[in-house]
Amino acid sequence: MSRIVAVSNRVGPIRGAARAGGLAVALVEALRQSRGLWFGWSGRLAEGEGATTSERGGGFNLATVDLTPAEHEDYYNGFANRCLWPLFHYRIDLTAYDRQFYDGYHRVNVRFARALQPLLQETDRVWVHDYHLIPFGQSLRDMGCTQAMGFFLHIPFPSREVLLTLPHHEKLIQSLFAYDLIGFQTERDCERFFDYALNEIPGTELRGDVLHAYGRSVRAAAFPIGIDARDYADFVYTEDGQRQWMRAKNALRGRTQIIGVDRMDYTKGLPERFAAFERLLTDYPDSHGRVEYLQIAPPTREGVQAYADIKHKLELMASQINGRYSEVDWTPLRYINRTLSRRALAGLYRASKIGLVTPLRDGMNLIAKEYVAAQDPEDPGVLVLSRFAGAAKQMPAALIVNPYDTVGVAEAMQTARYMDLEERRNRHAELMAGLIKEDIANWRERFVAELHTASMKRAA
Ligand code: G6P
Repeated sequence: MSRIVAVSNRVGPIRGAARAGGLAVALVEALRQSRGLWFGWSGRLAEGEGATTSERGGGFNLATVDLTPAEHEDYYNGFANRCLWPLFHYRIDLTAYDRQFYDGYHRVNVRFARALQPLLQETDRVWVHDYHLIPFGQSLRDMGCTQAMGFFLHIPFPSREVLLTLPHHEKLIQSLFAYDLIGFQTERDCERFFDYALNEIPGTELRGDVLHAYGRSVRAAAFPIGIDARDYADFVYTEDGQRQWMRAKNALRGRTQIIGVDRMDYTKGLPERFAAFERLLTDYPDSHGRVEYLQIAPPTREGVQAYADIKHKLELMASQINGRYSEVDWTPLRYINRTLSRRALAGLYRASKIGLVTPLRDGMNLIAKEYVAAQDPEDPGVLVLSRFAGAAKQMPAALIVNPYDTVGVAEAMQTARYMDLEERRNRHAELMAGLIKEDIANWRERFVAELHTASMKRAA
């Protein structure tokens, strides 16, 4: 069996399922099965060139490279997180179109490729992940690598008009043609890629789902990422899961808990969500003393100003809402800025009658899926989900909302509060069936199999 070589900016965490996200668990499984290699940034800042390799238990290897502080600034904080991230999430107002960032991004991709190349074997299948590493495959090809190579974009692919605002859009998109297979989260993302290619790259042809341009053929398709649905449902019964469930139940004393869990990112629609919760309190006074909203939002990418701004804004909004509505024995909004383990979260989801997932734009959103998986099928909670999350397409049995419409989101919360048991059960059963059918193992196996087929066609 040929090796899988996974390439991503962050490697791990791989210390077990408690902290590791579903994606890390899925990749580790593929790496173990093929005795493969996981390559990426070490998470450290230092002056350094080559890759450090180490053997992991279970028979796969890890190879990591340090970034210099200057590279971290231009590649990670700069081009990845001040340019591509906001741009691909339709926030051109927050996008920094800085040439120096692009140069740094390109240099790091080339340096990473140079570090991986000596570790590659002829029959490897290289699977590159996410927006940090779009030109990585092209850099390997420039060094003469002929291996099968696939790329998966975890975030949305923007519309042509938005992408055209990027000064280097041609070069960036051209580099995608180095891969044999490109995976997107949704059909819409894939269509937007086709739309760009067919209208902006002269002479491009589309035959089925294979694009021909720049003398290469690349297959592009949607591979909606899933979760380890059955395992996640069991997390509720772990020690951590039970402890958090008990704590929440005791603290709630019969009140309804609404839960939100997001990295503290401006794409997640948190100010709009806080405003929608305030709207619930204003428009539906029967919620006073009966509903509590718990928002868990660990800080992220703190080297980027837009993240400091959102933190400040949310702190202000949370204290204003609580100042306005709290009673001696009731605090409407609790706001936690720490990461909790996936197991602990499973317990909290189970204790929450409403899961509030309202990003302004999101590639997929796995919190929506984990909230559903953690519910009691006999008495499940209700998911309120943004139409702009990739997950909305697969989860029509959620209450689908427009996150910009605070009145509509408040209405959906009120509907969820009073939804009868039969409807909740039906919606949950439908959602859960979808999660099991399209789970993370299915995603991984399909991508790896289709990468194999696409590269065989190229070789033929
Ligand atoms: C998103 C991206 C991932 C990224 C994660 C955490 O989910 O798609 O590629 O790893 O956010 O962000 P960070 O900047 O901490 O790696």
